[in-house]
Amino acid sequence: MSTLEGRTAVVTGASAGIGAATVATLADRGMHVHALARRADRLAELAEATGCTTHQVDVRDHDALRGLLGGLEVDVLVNNAGVGRGIASFAEADPADLDQTIDTNVSAVLHACHAVLPGMIERGRGHLVLLGSTAGLHALPTTVYGASKGAIHMMTANLRLDLVGTGVRVTEVCPGRVTTEFYDAAIDDPEQRAGLQQTGISELTSWDVADAIAYAVEAPWHVNVTTIELQPTEQTYGGSRFDPVEGRTP
Ligand SMILES: NC(=O)c1ccc[n+]([C@@H]2O[C@H](COP(=O)([O-])OP(=O)(O)OC[C@H]3O[C@@H](n4cnc5c(N)ncnc54)[C@H](OP(=O)(O)O)[C@@H]3O)[C@@H](O)[C@H]2O)c1
Repeated sequence: MSTLEGRTAVVTGASAGIGAATVATLADRGMHVHALARRADRLAELAEATGCTTHQVDVRDHDALRGLLGGLEVDVLVNNAGVGRGIASFAEADPADLDQTIDTNVSAVLHACHAVLPGMIERGRGHLVLLGSTAGLHALPTTVYGASKGAIHMMTANLRLDLVGTGVRVTEVCPGRVTTEFYDAAIDDPEQRAGLQQTGISELTSWDVADAIAYAVEAPWHVNVTTIELQPTEQTYGGSRFDPVEGRTP
């Protein structure tokens, strides 16, 4: 029997991609999962498939989010909802896209963690999981998105210091490219979107990331899995490589 049996999880951004796979994976471990997103039809399909409880909410509505989370006894909070608005070009991005990315990927995460922490600290147990990204760990031409995920990287590190001794664990999960609807939601222009979407490599799947999240959540209580970085085998990041044969830096 899984150690998660009967425990309660909340997953934000549950109507698609990594969030939907995480709901299914944690429900499969016997958890009671609350699934949050804006699209009610998608949530209804997920409830049908997994037995999760759904909540139609925009995570940027801090009062609604805090009201909902404050009323639940949350053992595991997976902060997954995220967008990449403005990812194609910082210079050409609509100013509203900059706000949407920061509000969704950073401010909402701060409020969600803040809302569940009093209960977790009182019970002496809890787990905060934050979806970072390789874009938060390595320099990439993704200025606003990278800024939001870089904030997640320091948020998780600082949370661990803030919370040491409380029994609350904090995990950052940083995937490279995952095949999801992320770029459909991020980029309106079809040509620009196709340019960034078609990598030609075997990307990670949402299930790969959900399995990594489940590994951290299911670890024995004395183990805090701090950071998981997953890259597709055919993709890597950071620095430059000198090729002595061709004499070029790719
Ligand atoms: N795909 C990748 O390559 C990749 C790589 C690294 C990290 N990530 C991160 O992984 C997380 C999940 O992304 P994904 O790839 O699974 O993308 P996705 O398929 O586009 O799913 C994003 C989810 O976030 C929800 N969401 C967006 N804005 C929201 C809001 N304001 N309120 C509530 N829910 C909202 C969406 O639901 P509704 O539209 O129904 O609200 C959807 O369920 C994100 O944090 C992303 O930054 C993705």
